[in-house]
Amino acid sequence: MVAETPYKKGRLAGAAAEWDTAGPFMKANPRAERRPLLTPRQIYTYLDRYVVGQERAKRTVAIAAYNHLKRCGQPTAAGKRLLKKSNLLLIGPTGSGKTHIARTLAQCLEVPFTVADATEYTEAGYYGKDVEVMIGELLHHADQNVEVAQRGIVFIDEVDKIARRTQGARTGAGTRDIGGEGVQQSLLKLLEGREIFAPLNVTQHWNKHDFVVLDTQDVLFIAAGTFSDLHLGPAGKPVGFGAAGDGAAGAGRRVTEKDLIDYGLLAEFLGRLPVRVELAPLSEEELFLVMSSPPDAVVREYQALLKLDGVDLQFTEGALRAVAQHCVRRRTGARSLRTLVEGLCHDVMFDAPERKGETVVLDVDYVAERLESDLAQ
Ligand SMILES: Nc1ncnc2c1ncn2[C@@H]1O[C@H](COP(=O)(O)OP(=O)(O)OP(=O)(O)O)[C@@H](O)[C@H]1O
Ligand SMILES: [Mg+2]
Repeated sequence: MVAETPYKKGRLAGAAAEWDTAGPFMKANPRAERRPLLTPRQIYTYLDRYVVGQERAKRTVAIAAYNHLKRCGQPTAAGKRLLKKSNLLLIGPTGSGKTHIARTLAQCLEVPFTVADATEYTEAGYYGKDVEVMIGELLHHADQNVEVAQRGIVFIDEVDKIARRTQGARTGAGTRDIGGEGVQQSLLKLLEGREIFAPLNVTQHWNKHDFVVLDTQDVLFIAAGTFSDLHLGPAGKPVGFGAAGDGAAGAGRRVTEKDLIDYGLLAEFLGRLPVRVELAPLSEEELFLVMSSPPDAVVREYQALLKLDGVDLQFTEGALRAVAQHCVRRRTGARSLRTLVEGLCHDVMFDAPERKGETVVLDVDYVAERLESDLAQ
């Protein structure tokens, strides 16, 4: 059946207009949307406006998304797509943009998107969410439209926390690993694309669920984790982010399939996440850009907010660099930028209504002092 109404949520008018002339329409499948197929370059360009740095990740994600869209438009042979699915695994430190990239991608593709935290799930029959709930949540984001949800994106965060807990140092609660290996096992059927019974109305009380059959073969899954204590072999030398010296991005060797299996991911699970991307920690320069450059950058946001009170808020470059340095030192990546900037704007926001018409400049001294005192903790 043809989905009559195109999916509207998160539509960005300007961005869509830019792409009106793009690529061929997909005619192969009547289910396909009547919309130009975005090219990897167009997807990349969109991501690039919102995501600073992470060039490789942006390119890889753009290609995977392009392939995903192509697949969705392909004819099926006996219900099976001929093209293989390109689910992704993003590996990178906290605040490097894993969730941000996935979210921005969903905006760009205008498909429903849901973020699931892998640690909230357990093997079926145990206390905790069943993995089908992820699809239920996707359905919710698609206004319960199964056709639309079937082309959606599910972002599974913290997959490093569902590693098998049988080896050595890891502490397991009991003999059955219901939150780790059990969840990985349960996820297999979602990842490879099967018809599953997804609960409708997940936001309502759990025992009122109705179920609907949904095929996950076209759903794009993006898994992500920090794998922060990933170690290289018996020598125990940490890999990657911040751990392998603070040199340039990618100074350490790349994470291999074996590293991930040793870490506790099942080979079958990894096999269903064929596209792997490593994200490097953001540099000071990149953190500076994150604050000031994208259209939705936090500094722009506070400037716009204060403009409403008639106050012209300015940060000096040195001030923003001091914030960036602070994040590099604390290894929080971009994660704490918003909180820090919000804290810095605190006093100005309090006074703003009385300071109409003024220009307020926050300089490096102000920032340094604030970072040292109350913001430091
Ligand atoms: N590369 C980036 N470009 C622009 N903004 C970024 C980038 N990385 C992070 N941010 C900003 O920082 C916030 C936190 O980043 P995000 O949630 O993507 O981190 P993460 O890599 O998923 O970390 P975690 O492992 O802690 O979940 C985002 O909401 C976004 O605003
Ligand atoms: Mg995240």
